[in-house]
Amino acid sequence: MTHSVRTAVFPVAGLGTRFLPATKSIPKELLPIVDRPLIQYAVDEARAAGIENFVFVTGRGKGAIEDHFDVSYELEETLKARGKTQDLDRLRKLRPGPGEVAYVRQMEPLGLGHAVWCARHVVGNEPFAVLLADELILAERPVLASMIDVHERTGGNVVLVDEVPATETQRYGIIEPGEASGSAIEVVSMVEKPEPSAAPSNLAIVGRYVLTAPIMQILENTAAGTGGEIQLTDALMASLGSQPFHAVRLEAQRFDCGTKSGFVEATIRLALQRDDLRENVQRLVNSLADES
Ligand code: G1P
Repeated sequence: MTHSVRTAVFPVAGLGTRFLPATKSIPKELLPIVDRPLIQYAVDEARAAGIENFVFVTGRGKGAIEDHFDVSYELEETLKARGKTQDLDRLRKLRPGPGEVAYVRQMEPLGLGHAVWCARHVVGNEPFAVLLADELILAERPVLASMIDVHERTGGNVVLVDEVPATETQRYGIIEPGEASGSAIEVVSMVEKPEPSAAPSNLAIVGRYVLTAPIMQILENTAAGTGGEIQLTDALMASLGSQPFHAVRLEAQRFDCGTKSGFVEATIRLALQRDDLRENVQRLVNSLADES
């Protein structure tokens, strides 16, 4: 089957300062939720949505991500020799195939918009997805697949949005919604990290984008915005009017693993969904509830 969106960009160059000291020498994208690194969830989601080309925008100190998606010859040989075929199979399924992965380097931390722009030559002239691994989303059918459906119907840019508490708008890009048709809401405008009083709604962009190629040209001309960084939200705002732009509402579980509390919540909830861990973790959760 041929998919209209075959390439996904994973910006993974961020310093992860919120998780220091854990992230001093380990990329934050490799911090595990139970026993899988955060980035693995995003890659698996993309693959399940039909993505075939995986572009990582990395930076200094992120080499372990490349190793994670590579063959580990010694490890695989050792598992084979020990007859651990299940573990071996599991490992092999984690990685995209040969030639399906590319790494580009964002040499300076100039923002999410700049990170996406750094991937322009690898992405080429096709529509592409962007996934931020911080946002861990659990859905029966990947939300990215529903967003690609909307892109195929409308031909334009698509972002995923979720309602956030009014007090948290300054952590996200916030859209101003227009008319809804089916699962797609027209986007009228958007702003990066507004104070609650300036937010046009409480619908936050939550780390999944389907973008058309012209966004790269717009990014090239986007000046630094909020936080002194080149913002993807600003480039998207500038694209309004020249092409269709819709938001898809999230209808699945989302964990903001960019925050410590979201990270801990994801760990507990995912552990509770695992057959091998449920009983013990449930007992722990119950006993903690009794104590408080
Ligand atoms: C980025 C985007 C923001 C979006 C958020 C989702 O911000 O700039 O628009 O709402 O991701 O997690 P960051 O979290 O990188 O500061």
